[in-house]
Amino acid sequence: MGISGIVDLTAYGDEFTADPYPIYAKLREQGPVHRVLTVDNGELWLVVGHEAVRSALADPRFSKSWRTVDPDGELGAVSANMLEVDAPQHTRLRKLVAKEFTARRVEALRPRIQQITDELLDAMLPLGRADLVDALAFPLPMTVICELLGVPSLDREAFRHWSNVIVGQSGAEAEAAAVQAMGAYLVELIEDKRRSAPADDLMSALIRTTDEDGDQLSADELVGMAFLLLVAGHETTVNLISNGVLALLRHPDQLAALRADPALLDGAIEEMLRYDGPVETSTWRFAIEPVEIGGTVIPRGAPVLVALASAGRDPDRFEEPDRFDIRRSAQGHVAFGHGIHYCLGAPLARIEGRTAVRTLLERCPDLALDTDPATLSWRPGMLIRGVHRLPVRY
Ligand code: HEM
Repeated sequence: MGISGIVDLTAYGDEFTADPYPIYAKLREQGPVHRVLTVDNGELWLVVGHEAVRSALADPRFSKSWRTVDPDGELGAVSANMLEVDAPQHTRLRKLVAKEFTARRVEALRPRIQQITDELLDAMLPLGRADLVDALAFPLPMTVICELLGVPSLDREAFRHWSNVIVGQSGAEAEAAAVQAMGAYLVELIEDKRRSAPADDLMSALIRTTDEDGDQLSADELVGMAFLLLVAGHETTVNLISNGVLALLRHPDQLAALRADPALLDGAIEEMLRYDGPVETSTWRFAIEPVEIGGTVIPRGAPVLVALASAGRDPDRFEEPDRFDIRRSAQGHVAFGHGIHYCLGAPLARIEGRTAVRTLLERCPDLALDTDPATLSWRPGMLIRGVHRLPVRY
């Protein structure tokens, strides 16, 4: 704790990036909300602990809109997305996308997800050793989300780059440029799809969808929706697969148990999400009025991040929370968020995670880490938690 009551997270340096859990535990012991100084986002308020995290995520006094802090700011088309608006705008957007991004559409992707996984492993297996991020964890969800939305394969490298810049710690200028480039690309893609005969991808469906009142997505809302789905689809599931496989490889007893009984797979995926999920803190929230949590008042207009990672390791909710145990009941984790912004892609992410882990274990009976885990390099920033590379041999 600093002299002014601000916890200086920058003082922990790379240690916090590599393993933030002990620091979250310390904060949680002191209380549910802290004013912190961060490397990537300056000063903000951080909510920790399972109960406080859940209630903050569902608290309408925390707005998702940048308008709360900057009423006259210039917001590009990409900001017209569900994660940057509150009810009732949010309700409207979510309803329109839910009409098209249905359980049936996701379920129909299952054979294709298996096929992409098989092809990626066909290419990886003869090598004997590989970076699992590059060989499987990244290209699988990236290919799936691009095919789902109908982004031509030629353009996918550009997407990978923009998306990385947007969620990484690249600096405000680079981020704004990437958001703008992706926005401009999406405007053209949507125009193209509007002009052509309807294809059966999700973007084409979203362009044409109308609800029972005749309501439709505007041009900006389509760009915002495509932007959100592509970034969320690119940057999250990759870390479910890589953090999850890393956890298995670091806990050989758990890996052996899963190999011996594949019926443990679904529970193992939930435990991976609880133990070391892809999203460390939520996206931004802003207090629209002073909000008191556990005796601390977050002032009006203050930026707030909700530490999902601290909720999964809360001993008041999960017994021995730092133990990775695929047989425990990990239900109730908040890796996909909570409340009205609960992850729209959770069913898709689960199918991808299960397919990737199951197929990888089946085809690589001798899978092992090919590096000292202490040397792994973790992605900077507090939003996304994942390794840059995961060297494995098999
Ligand atoms: C394991 C993988 C994933 C994790 C851990 C994850 C996590 C999350 C979290 C924590 C939120 C809420 C953020 C907040 O309230 O600040 C969220 C929202 C969202 N996610 Fe995911 N996500 C994953 C995969 C996906 C995929 C594959 C897609 C797209 C197909 C997706 C689309 C979305 C969308 C559209 C929202 C916003 C929903 C809304 O505002 O109503 N996610 N996700």
